[in-house]
Amino acid sequence: MKYNKRFTTTAAVAATFLLAGGLAACGGGEGEGDGGGDGGGLEDSYVVATDTAFVPFEFEEDGEYVGFDIDIINEVADRVGFEIELETTNFDGMIPGLQTGTFDIAIAGMTITDERAEAVDFTSPYYKSGLRIAVPVDNEDITSVDDLEGLTIATRLGSTSADYIENNIEGATPNTYEQLDQAYLSVEGGGSDAVLYDAPNVEYYILTAGEDSLKVVGELLEAQNYGIAVSQGNEELVTAMNEALAAMIEDGTYAEIYTEWFGSEPEWLDELAELQAG
Ligand code: ARG
Repeated sequence: MKYNKRFTTTAAVAATFLLAGGLAACGGGEGEGDGGGDGGGLEDSYVVATDTAFVPFEFEEDGEYVGFDIDIINEVADRVGFEIELETTNFDGMIPGLQTGTFDIAIAGMTITDERAEAVDFTSPYYKSGLRIAVPVDNEDITSVDDLEGLTIATRLGSTSADYIENNIEGATPNTYEQLDQAYLSVEGGGSDAVLYDAPNVEYYILTAGEDSLKVVGELLEAQNYGIAVSQGNEELVTAMNEALAAMIEDGTYAEIYTEWFGSEPEWLDELAELQAG
């Protein structure tokens, strides 16, 4: 199943690439002196990092990056008034890249954790998530997280799921991959017993490519919130992005984008609005 993605998304991303390309040459320092104030002021353009494959948040289609996160960051950038210079990197390279200033912003379904919040700043939550387990369709032995003890579990390197496996599942061996496709393939090919990863990604995979091979088992584990990460020292940018997110939730734009990628409105929209206000 594929939810109807806006054809305009691709056009918008392409336009952003072109614009960003022209602006990149005169990036950095350009905002100095115009507005100024605490927190660094706002620049005309920012380097935004995302991942190459985290359906349906960001993935490549016909040579363009599309997905829920891409639509969200484009809308936020429009409202705040900056151009996006999009760069892709492996998920585990995002926080180091923000710390060294290679990237200004990262949007990649990144869970807000206390540990990460020491290294980077986060916007208010823009998505409520959790973790899910999937096993081969013909597996009858694994029905909950308790059945995973001592087994081999595939997931992504540097993710909150990798931490979860290490901290909560006794005797389990995490099989961590740089790209999640490899994790799914490893379960499908019998190299791992199960995959544990972000619920929306597991669910989307099973609705699409993994339809005949994998199934979800057990409860949603560990409630998590995704935030947009920003390199430290950009308080004004974080505040402006929070205002944009709150306005998008308020005026229905958020629900519209969400529905395009997930098929219906989120059940937790009110909760998300409260988190924005708080
Ligand atoms: N939410 C999880 C985390 O923050 C996984 C995110 C993976 N995102 C991605 N674009 N690969 O650790």
